[in-house]
Amino acid sequence: MKSTHDVCIVGGGVIGCAIAFFAARKGFRPLVIERNELGSQSTQAGAGMLGAQVEMEKPDALYRLGIASRDMYKDLQAELKEISGIDIELQTAGILRLAVSEDDRNQLLARQKWQTEEGQRAIWLEDEELRKEAGDLFGSTYGALYLPDDHQVRNQALLQALVASATKLGAKFVQHTEMTGIILQGDTVKGITTPHGQIAVDAVILAAGAWTGILSRHCGVELPVFPVKGQAIMAESRSPVTPFTVFTHGTYMLPKLTGHIYIGATMERCGFDKTPSLEGAARLLSRAAEIMPPLGKLGVHSHLVGLRPGSEDGYPFFGELPGIKGLYTATGHLRNGVLLAPITGAILADLLSEKVSGIDLAPFSVNRLL
Ligand code: GLY
Repeated sequence: MKSTHDVCIVGGGVIGCAIAFFAARKGFRPLVIERNELGSQSTQAGAGMLGAQVEMEKPDALYRLGIASRDMYKDLQAELKEISGIDIELQTAGILRLAVSEDDRNQLLARQKWQTEEGQRAIWLEDEELRKEAGDLFGSTYGALYLPDDHQVRNQALLQALVASATKLGAKFVQHTEMTGIILQGDTVKGITTPHGQIAVDAVILAAGAWTGILSRHCGVELPVFPVKGQAIMAESRSPVTPFTVFTHGTYMLPKLTGHIYIGATMERCGFDKTPSLEGAARLLSRAAEIMPPLGKLGVHSHLVGLRPGSEDGYPFFGELPGIKGLYTATGHLRNGVLLAPITGAILADLLSEKVSGIDLAPFSVNRLL
């Protein structure tokens, strides 16, 4: 049971790979084990939207965490490019959140007010200004909130850049290997077991998204994380439709540099079922064509499905699990895994090295829902 690694991260999605990168940057030698292939679960299905302002409903701890993580992306892009040569395809045109009713308009104007008070840019566009800025692309609208600092990346490029950079800094990634148990000495982690043998490490981080609750049972803890299915359609377009991400209640569209347009996403609580349904596709496509009629003419490229890791209060979990020293988790990111990946990596790297984080982790503590 020898290992040249000091921390084992269980789960090779964007969260596990971001933790590996930030930990390697601090001088750790992380080992990431992934049951399937790296990024093969919700990372491959996600939109890559860095929607701190568009997604969060109030000025709370999660909103501020989202803003801080989003604002790490420009430096992260440069650093990953320098280390790995891979560009994460950060697109900075911003997000247009369309109002599609009078009620929606009032809610978005209220959002503009609190976000401006929080020091963020949130610009109200009346219909005429919206069409002047973005073209005559939309169905019926009641104005729009323009969020120029909410950006997007391409998830696959981000994952590749994190893995390649972390590898250069000493991390190792092993696929098709699952954790089957934890090895303890007293109340302290000493390693994990896998079907291929034991791995000795000083710290273990459970970062397996929606499957983290199942993994935590190996460790005698029932972490309340559950799957929230998201279906999305990737459409293809011969010429660019718009540089903006367009978001409205229940549906959003992201133009990708590859020429594809991502149309997401359903929110379904149906256990670990990953079936792509006709009903899900129909709902997304009809809504997208209603909001942006030119999308109705595009071809369908693929139907994506992922299981997001949900928690009852919508907040992620960061930190040590109760009763076992050296056993950590980072999960429950729900719709915000890509947005929160950099700050999650930084927090877990801080917890590994200094045992504390510069961020108040009380709202995200593992104990709050146990
Ligand atoms: N980030 C949006 C979603 O998961 O649908």
